[in-house]
Amino acid sequence: MANILIFDSGMGGLSVYRELSKRIPAQQYLYLFDNAYFPYGELSEPRLVARVVELFSTFVKQHSVDIAVIACNTASTYVLPALRAQLSIPIVGVVPAIKPAAEYSRQHQTLAKPAHIGLLATPGTISRRYTAELVQSFAPDIQVSMLGTTELVKMAEDKLAGLPVDIKRLKQILAPWSGNRGPDTLVLGCTHFPLLATEINQCLPQVKLIDSGAAIARRVSYLLLQPACTLSQELAPEGKAGLLFCTELTKKALQQARAFKKEGFSELNCFEPNLNKLLKEQ
Ligand code: DGL
Repeated sequence: MANILIFDSGMGGLSVYRELSKRIPAQQYLYLFDNAYFPYGELSEPRLVARVVELFSTFVKQHSVDIAVIACNTASTYVLPALRAQLSIPIVGVVPAIKPAAEYSRQHQTLAKPAHIGLLATPGTISRRYTAELVQSFAPDIQVSMLGTTELVKMAEDKLAGLPVDIKRLKQILAPWSGNRGPDTLVLGCTHFPLLATEINQCLPQVKLIDSGAAIARRVSYLLLQPACTLSQELAPEGKAGLLFCTELTKKALQQARAFKKEGFSELNCFEPNLNKLLKEQ
């Protein structure tokens, strides 16, 4: 059994967890979300790297973690090198799936409609040099349109909290991509967005959606099978609850914990590098 840590600013990592738990069930999952600094997409790069490195390194030192997944494109596209320099456990990052999207779009292009992909991500991810390099490496020959939005991140969290999704507003946000001139393939470059896939599809029915979740699950399961990874062969008992941690105990976090509970996570713990307390959800 492996202790697998999933990390995000909020609930987006659940889209990755769903793929992981399908492919690698019966493990001990830990989920840490940094709600005190949410949303990451609005943070400057120096603040983001300082925060994530401090929080993450402290957490990993205090808990038993075999492998960590940074289930956040906004963080992965900037902080991975700094994190890997601090920690010796394997760290898997989630970055926008530009390569498979470009391949799909090229395969489906016609003379009338040349390949065109869209990248839907946070403002932070859109502005990264890393993202520009991904496009340069894997889609230099095709049209790439980008849209950065934090509103959709919040919509995804509201949806999980049980609120209805405002389809009219979603249509407005995605309006630049509707119709014949929009992309044929859309990269969901924020882990929150697969949680809204049904609604995004409703607004852009002609578009193929691509995210990184399944590829991340394949990567983690590959790493766990490596000889260097000496884990006990014992599996976690069926239905073993995942452990949930936030960084600020708020009313919203307690509401979020209810949504996590439905996905198999138990009590909500509060973890702050300087202030470490535990609260059982009533
Ligand atoms: N879920 C995160 C991502 O994949 C970011 C959301 C945020 O802005 O905090 O980029």
